[in-house]
Amino acid sequence: MSKIFVDACLGKETPYTPVWMMRQAGRYLPEYMAVRKEAGNFLNLCHDPEKSAEVTIQPLDIVGVDAAILFSDILVIPDEMGMDLSFVKGEGPKFSDPIKDQSDLDRLIGGEEAASKLTYVYETIKLLRKQLDERNDEIALIGFTGAPWTLATYMIEGQGTKTYNICKKMMYSNPELLHKILRKVTDVVKLYMEKQIQSGVDVVQIFDSWAAAIEPSKYNEFSWSYMVEIAEYLKEKYPHIPVIMFPKGVASFIASGEVYGNFDVFGVDWGTPMELAKQKLGDKYVLQGNMEPCRLYSKEMITESVTNIHNIMNGKRHIFNLGHGILPDVPVEHAKHFVSECQRISEKK
Ligand code: CP3
Repeated sequence: MSKIFVDACLGKETPYTPVWMMRQAGRYLPEYMAVRKEAGNFLNLCHDPEKSAEVTIQPLDIVGVDAAILFSDILVIPDEMGMDLSFVKGEGPKFSDPIKDQSDLDRLIGGEEAASKLTYVYETIKLLRKQLDERNDEIALIGFTGAPWTLATYMIEGQGTKTYNICKKMMYSNPELLHKILRKVTDVVKLYMEKQIQSGVDVVQIFDSWAAAIEPSKYNEFSWSYMVEIAEYLKEKYPHIPVIMFPKGVASFIASGEVYGNFDVFGVDWGTPMELAKQKLGDKYVLQGNMEPCRLYSKEMITESVTNIHNIMNGKRHIFNLGHGILPDVPVEHAKHFVSECQRISEKK
């Protein structure tokens, strides 16, 4: 038997269009909240392979998705490069000592040394590989990373930001330093992804959540080119492992016809019309997405959107997903409805 999600990523025929949700292992599930409570806090949970594996599996049994995404966070990478990460209640992630200059960057650990420190992630993957193989239900395991640009925004700002003014000041007044940061992060990420593959993931996704902060004419220079470098490094060594690119909020970059690179799946965010993505990218890449996550508040709105996306993608290679992560206050029933509607509506009779 082959894995339906891997087949779909590689553009093969599948009995229906597989579905998963970004942030599917998370706070909308009471079962997740219970394990997080046991762990004490979110970072402890990330550092605990048994518990991380447990919450990775939860949405398979509870909502019936066709793929599992490794439970971790993109920010464990800069944390292990030597930046001190914490999650402040109600405020999100924080780094105590953001990068301001070359000497801050020089202090960070790079390359193999940094990638080797993420052992708890590799342990989680090995546990999951074993557990998933034992289930015998051919569910694929997705590994992931943040794109260098998205990681750099946190490393430079020290936290989430609305304006990105500190990293954009660097982009326009000291682009050499920004490129050096992106280079160092890219070199770690390549090895990190490679070790995730060697530990047992079936597919990898690169999240560029803050792609839309970059003006379109600079997007390739400061983000896409680094993402493509990572994808092509992996495709060269592991051609059978599908690579998914998810740059959020880049409709004009798609429209301009500038998307390039050797990867398998393009993740379409909810603000980009699926029709546009299909026209520009649908012949070259499998498309993933793109229901607006807030439609999960209404069952009718879910069915309407799934039908609509399915009709647009009819005959083109596709994977269902949300156009960004599921929010914590979504009823679990509605998440189940989304998943079962995707599977029902796309079923080949
Ligand atoms: O289910 C999954 O998708 C796998 C797990 C996963 C998490 N974070 C768990 C998490 C994944 C793939 C991520 C990626 C991630 N982390 C991104 C890129 C994806 C995206 O959503 O755009 C980003 C930007 C981060 C950084 C991050 N982590 C922020 C900004 C926050 C706080 C904001 C928030 O949602 O609370 C986190 C915390 C985080 N990562 C949570 C989870 C389940 C919530 C933590 C908690 O339990 O309190």
